[in-house]
Amino acid sequence: MNIDAKQTVLWRVDKKNPAPAIIKEAASIIARGGLVAFPTETVYGLGANGLDGKAVDSIFAAKGRPRDNPLILHVSDINMVYRYAGDVSKTALMLMEEFWPGPLSVVLPGSSKVPREVSAGLNSLAFRMPDHSVALALIREAGVPVAAPSANTSGKPSPTTAEHTYQDLKGKIDAILDGGQAGMGVESTVLDLTAEVPVILRPGGVTLEDIKELGCDVVLDSSLVNYEEIVDKPRSPGMKYRHYAPSSPLILIEGVEEQVIQEILKLASAYAAQGKRIGVLCRDGNLGKYPGTMTIAAGTAWDHASVAVELYNALRSFDDTDMDIILAEGVEPVGLGLAVANRLRRAATTIIQAKG
Ligand code: TXA
Ligand code: MG
Repeated sequence: MNIDAKQTVLWRVDKKNPAPAIIKEAASIIARGGLVAFPTETVYGLGANGLDGKAVDSIFAAKGRPRDNPLILHVSDINMVYRYAGDVSKTALMLMEEFWPGPLSVVLPGSSKVPREVSAGLNSLAFRMPDHSVALALIREAGVPVAAPSANTSGKPSPTTAEHTYQDLKGKIDAILDGGQAGMGVESTVLDLTAEVPVILRPGGVTLEDIKELGCDVVLDSSLVNYEEIVDKPRSPGMKYRHYAPSSPLILIEGVEEQVIQEILKLASAYAAQGKRIGVLCRDGNLGKYPGTMTIAAGTAWDHASVAVELYNALRSFDDTDMDIILAEGVEPVGLGLAVANRLRRAATTIIQAKG
């Protein structure tokens, strides 16, 4: 037996009103340098004391995460940001007041009060205040900023349930707070406020349109526009890895719906002729359109939020099947759809634009 294996405890908690005794117990694990997974309104996070370099390092070990990919510090109030960031601009304060608690992570100048393991050596730090009673209660009780990436094995789709977290991390972390299904299903928007004009490094629940509506200048990182380019020095180190990916190769087909369907049918019959088993990820309205394949639905085309909620679970479901290849319908990259399209593009081994 591996003597390093941890006994991972699973505590069920009420997501609106978590039992104080359980939160206390979980916070004491964090205080002792341990790892606790918890639900947020985006996906499950894997938390450690953000001021304890050794504890933060063990997050990387548990996830198998490359050590050059920095973590977000989760806070329970804006004062914590003032305490640990190098500087807080007026724009940063305005955005935090507008969108917190909520799915926005702000990248601010870093400070030496936070161990370098959190920022992976960058001179900036990301902060976020999650909109979830369990997460907020845990951070408050711990009394420290909680460093937390998504609670998945690195490279896998982020967990939207405690079960996903358990599958990936059992034996490697101390505890999981099970608060049921996480809310949105995709991770927070990562917004770099250290540049002259704010840059969205990762699209998420707070959209480009939401930020512009406040009269705030904002641009998309070039990797989100020219997403097929492999950027040599991405500003968000997490952007350079294939992510959110099921084990089998995934071909993403983008474009007008009718043409996407035709392209998938064409590819499916070509792969079937090679004896391959084909999975298709599609809108629920298109479930019957791909005979001879194993179809899994995620949401409806006209409702990006419904696709976001189901996407990671659908990607994980393909791993329980023995498909050789997955063909996925694309999503229109506007509003929350940009976040969904981004995750699909990052999960894909190949991206095809369907043409009429
Ligand atoms: O919704 C979320 O953000 C979830 C929940 C648990 O809060 N967390 C999450 O963390 O998705 P993670 O570690 O899986 O993704 C954090 C992203 C990575 O792409 C990382 O590179 C980027 O944020 N990031 C963190 N600190 C940064 C920094 N100082 N500068 C640029 N990018 C940073
Ligand atoms: Mg992640």
